[in-house]
Order: sequence, then C-alpha cells, then structure tokens
Amino acid sequence: MVWGAHDLRRPAARASSIGPVPALLTDTPTLTGDLVQLRPVTARDVGRLHALMRDPEVGRLTGSVHDDAEAGRDPWTVVQLQEVYARWARDTDRLVWTVVERSTGQVAGEAVLLDHDPGNASIGFRIWLGGSRDRGLGTEATRLAVGHAFEVLGLHRVELEVYAFNPRARRVYEKVGFVLEGTKREALRYADGWVDCHVMGILAREWSRPLDPGSPAPGTTPPPPAR
Ligand SMILES: CC(C)(COP(=O)(O)OP(=O)(O)OC[C@H]1O[C@@H](n2cnc3c(N)ncnc32)[C@H](O)[C@@H]1OP(=O)(O)O)[C@@H](O)C(=O)NCCC(=O)NCCS
Repeated sequence: MVWGAHDLRRPAARASSIGPVPALLTDTPTLTGDLVQLRPVTARDVGRLHALMRDPEVGRLTGSVHDDAEAGRDPWTVVQLQEVYARWARDTDRLVWTVVERSTGQVAGEAVLLDHDPGNASIGFRIWLGGSRDRGLGTEATRLAVGHAFEVLGLHRVELEVYAFNPRARRVYEKVGFVLEGTKREALRYADGWVDCHVMGILAREWSRPLDPGSPAPGTTPPPPAR
C-alpha cells in the first residue's frame, strides 16, 4: 500500500484529541514558509553549517561552551560533523532540518525536533542560526517545525529550554506560543557565573498558525458576503 501525505496526516490529526499514537519520524519532510525552507541536511550543507557554528553567539546561547574563549573555537571538525548529521539522519526519535533562507538560497542554520517520547506524544525543539538575527527567520522556522509536530505528527506537546541570557530566543518562542513552565536554577556555568535555564512548552490545543490576512479569527463565523 502506498501512503500519501494526506493519509499520514489523518491518524496523527486525531491523536491530540483521543490520546497518543506512535508518530513517524523516519522521513524528514521539506517545510516551506515565506522566508525560510526547512529541508533535510545534505552532505553538501555540512561545510556551511560548520562555518556558521563558529559564530560565538551560537556556542554561547546554545550552552555548548563555558566561556567566551571556548566560544571562538571549532567544537567539531567537518568530518566529525558529517558523522554526527549522518547518525542523526538515521535516528528515529528526531527530525533534523537545515534552515535555508529562501531569498538567497543560503543555509542559515539548523532546526531540530528531538527526544520524541511516543508514550506521552511529546517532543523537544531546538534551533540555531549563525550570523543572521532579527529578520524573522527564526520565528518562521520555529513555527514551521512546531506546526509539523502538531499538524502532521499529531503530537500533544513540544518543549524546549532557553537560557536566561537569551531574551531574543525567549521572545521568539513566546511569539510562537510557548509558555514559561519553570526554571532550572543555575543550570549553566558560564565564565565566572551561573545562568538559569527556562523550560518552555506548548500544547496542541494552544497551537495556532498566524492568520492569513482577511481570514476569520479562530472560532468565529465569517461574515456573509456583502450584497
Ligand atoms: C534565537 C534565534 C533562533 C532567533 O532567530 P531570529 O531570526 O534572530 O529571530 P526573529 O527575527 O524571528 O525574532 C527575534 C525577535 O526577538 C526580538 N529581540 C531581539 N533582541 C532582543 C532582546 N535583547 N530582548 C528581547 N527581544 C529581542 C526581536 O525584536 C524580534 O521580536 P519582534 O519580532 O517582536 O520584534 C537566532 O537569533 C539564533 O539562532 N541565535 C543564536 C543561537 C540561539 O540563541 N539559539 C536558541 C537557543 S535556545
């Protein structure tokens, strides 16, 4: 039997109302928005991703390093990174995307749904973009990934962690609909201090896409056509 995308969406769409069902994380789809496209990572992307990871903000704000000196160093060789992405592509508990800026065709970073917990219909999310900030790419990439988790995979919950010294990322997550659920106090050692780590989550019933201009608000009836 051949399953089309529509067939796959049906059981998943019911899951949030009737309880968890196993979701399918074997194929990474391409998701297209106005500004960005999320597509599977290819071997050719890895050199560019490796270069983008040198952005010290990426190391610092993702909690990958413990001081500014470390943030300037390469955490991986390109070969190591190729092995990491190849392994992740085989994993069945995560979907890893390259974030591509549509206007230039350039790889901008990475977005990941990870740690899929089928029994609880939940999954984690993380994202980083190198060198590009405040142009709306991160918000749209986050919306595309979270929309996939709810609308296609039929999951109940998406969660993430964001450090207290990253108000930009927190703003992005709040715009998408994540709410603060708790704080892991002094969870990251950075330089001479400790940084709190906020846990944020969004549930399927809280998820809504931004409206198309002119479309009715959720739960409202569109007005009758003017005579
Ligand atoms: C976090 C990240 C994915 C966001 O992507 P982005 O493309 O820069 O974000 P957007 O342009 O979509 O939105 C940024 C929002 O934050 C706001 N913002 C920027 N700096 C801010 C600050 N210091 N405090 C509060 N809000 C801030 C912007 O004004 C914008 O909100 P607005 O649309 O209401 O004006 C990206 O910046 C990034 O990868 N940073 C480095 C790694 C990282 O932090 N990853 C996340 C780890 S949890």
